[in-house]
Amino acid sequence: MKTKYLSESKNDIEQAGKIIANGGLVAFPTETVYGLGANALDDHAVENVYLAKGRPSDNPMIVHICNINQVEELVEEFPRSGRLLAEAFWPGPLTLIMRARDLVPRRTTGGLDTVGIRFPSSHTAQTLIRLSGCPIAAPSANLSGKPSPTKWEHVAEDLDGKIDAIIKGKDSQVGIESTVVDITGLKPMILRPGIITSEDMEKVLGREVLIDESLVTRPQKKENPQKKRQGLKGASDVVEDECTHIIPRAPGMKYKHYAPKAPVTIFEGDRIKALECLEEREKILKAEGKKVWILDLGLDEVEAASRLFAQLRKADKEGADEILALGLEEKGVGFSVMNRLLKSAGFNTVKC
Ligand code: TXA
Ligand code: MG
Repeated sequence: MKTKYLSESKNDIEQAGKIIANGGLVAFPTETVYGLGANALDDHAVENVYLAKGRPSDNPMIVHICNINQVEELVEEFPRSGRLLAEAFWPGPLTLIMRARDLVPRRTTGGLDTVGIRFPSSHTAQTLIRLSGCPIAAPSANLSGKPSPTKWEHVAEDLDGKIDAIIKGKDSQVGIESTVVDITGLKPMILRPGIITSEDMEKVLGREVLIDESLVTRPQKKENPQKKRQGLKGASDVVEDECTHIIPRAPGMKYKHYAPKAPVTIFEGDRIKALECLEEREKILKAEGKKVWILDLGLDEVEAASRLFAQLRKADKEGADEILALGLEEKGVGFSVMNRLLKSAGFNTVKC
């Protein structure tokens, strides 16, 4: 299939809207990451999104809307907590999980009876949803497992020839995907951390917001004897089938994710010590003739979020053999950035 490249002009977005209304797939910018959109109510179109991404079919998609009133058409109940969160954070990088009406195909919800809904703040995204005349199911527009795309060029790298069109919009400013919060239970629970934190939501709701246990517990790691022999004190690798995970509540959080081609190692602890440790490792690798990419996202965690995925992709493009990353403090947005970084590293960390 030949992929059409479209601009953000009204005419082009109208064309993109028609493609979606006719069951096609269009990648489009949002403030978080680029999405791969299809008509959320069209079973067949949604199936094609799974195929294009190589995505497991039990991984539900987020349904994007352009007006708060659309929520009621899609869910059984719009709880009070959801209304408060929507008023405070929509349009924006927040996804609310609610009970789905039968109208929402189970293909879209990955077989669940709940659905994640988001009203993005990106003007192009809003226009596309409005002009397509339907809610848009959109996972991140990357091949499954790869870092999420924050530039249209990233989408082109992964999906050119596999989808109908790509809107060449601006870079995504937030840089990590939306916060996913389940509001079907007694207490709201974060299933995927993002730029909107539990503290932000607690301020609005005046009560506790839980965090899914799988997000705060790292998988048990198995010592990697080979790394030990190389003199990497404390280094360890996750051996997928030999570690015990707590199963995440968001199906998508259990898959291997965000992985660049080059292996990633995260150096954690006091920043100065971690840097020393990292530089020592860099020397060893360089002496072995390896091309090393240093990933220092800086101290500003919001800035770090906006740079993370683009940096991982850049390291691959430049042919890095190894990526050495400085960890962030797991607080506020730093917690959300570390969630992605740890996954990209397969939880391979060095405590310094
Ligand atoms: O920022 C974002 O959310 C981007 C942009 C395009 O909007 N989209 C995105 O979609 O990140 P995706 O498909 O890559 O990630 C959706 C995440 C997955 O971890 C999925 O398992 C979870 O949300 N999710 C979606 N619906 C759910 C549901 N009903 N119950 C539990 N988790 C759900
Ligand atoms: Mg994704």
